[in-house]
Amino acid sequence: MTRTQSIILYSTLLGLGAATAIVALRTPPAAAEDTVITVYKSPTCGCCAAWVDYMREAGFNVTVEDVADLNAVKARHGVPRQLESCHTAIVEGYVVEGHVPADLVTRLLAERPADAWGIAVPGMPAGSPGMEQGDRREPYDVILYNARTGGATIYASR
Ligand code: CU
Ligand code: CU
Repeated sequence: MTRTQSIILYSTLLGLGAATAIVALRTPPAAAEDTVITVYKSPTCGCCAAWVDYMREAGFNVTVEDVADLNAVKARHGVPRQLESCHTAIVEGYVVEGHVPADLVTRLLAERPADAWGIAVPGMPAGSPGMEQGDRREPYDVILYNARTGGATIYASR
């Protein structure tokens, strides 16, 4: 189901009718389409480029910054050591570390949970977006974290 379909379905379920659905379509919540996300990656990282392509296909407006020293980027943006992955992205003030599914970035921007600093998929699990390896799928957790307090919770499991 596309987001448009789900908005219409949601409105229908609420009994609010088509007029509301049209209004909802005009003001989509945290639409990926206009959301600028900056991805810091090494110029030679293939899976990073695959994640960039995936995010563009999901509708995000992706800017790529190839950098020599990613550790400096991760330190500057407060990515905890144990949550590190290959690339680091910034979207509307949040840090998105690694191969995070696009729908969870959209959800983060819609929910804006209190105390959230960023979300991360630590390491590079096979089967995560940009890490496709045929039928291989490693289950993984997407971690919501606060670099200031050290708090971390599981935002989603895939
Ligand atoms: Cu990677
Ligand atoms: Cu990467």
